[in-house]
Amino acid sequence: MRISRSKWAKAALVVIAVAIAGSVIAGRVLLPEANPPLRHEGWVLSERAQPILERACFDCHSNATRWPWYAYVPPVSLFIVMDVAEGREHVNFSAWDSRPPDRQAKDMQKALEEIREGEMPLKMYLWAHADARVSEADLALLTEDVAARYGEAFTRPPPEGEEHEH
Ligand code: HEC
Repeated sequence: MRISRSKWAKAALVVIAVAIAGSVIAGRVLLPEANPPLRHEGWVLSERAQPILERACFDCHSNATRWPWYAYVPPVSLFIVMDVAEGREHVNFSAWDSRPPDRQAKDMQKALEEIREGEMPLKMYLWAHADARVSEADLALLTEDVAARYGEAFTRPPPEGEEHEH
């Protein structure tokens, strides 16, 4: 039996409609919710160093995420929502003061290392946020601040193979 051309067209339309509906439903589920309440509104670092973190890290590592319009468009939304969820799980500056000082120190040590290695901020994020780049001067300032607050030792790379605890 020959399947008529119009049947193929109908089938294609159904497939496209299902794909669109599916991604909209997936997008609904994964749309960024309103940010969780800010628990920490004070300073993580000094007044000089804090704005660097706010500019370069807070979108994924705090509850003060500035959601761009494309964070509401599936399937892009899926990646953004997952990055933010994962970022907050590792380090959440909005919950900083509920973290014991030794954990804070280790988080900062790891943060400096991630910046030095060019791992953070995530490259994909930098494509859309050129202003989030951490310059050498920014890094020097952050390092100075971490030394003053947590001690010189935490400005050096963490011991090889040390697992990051949550
Ligand atoms: C676009 C989102 C995003 C931005 C912006 C971002 N991060 Fe991350 N960060 C993540 C994600 C996702 C992870 C977990 C996966 C990974 O390690 O790559 C993470 C992990 C980390 C970790 C834990 C690494 C480990 O191995 O345990 C540290 C520390 C960190 N980020 C620091 C920073 C700092 C400091 C900045 C700003 C200079 C920053 N991040 C900017 C998304 C982001």
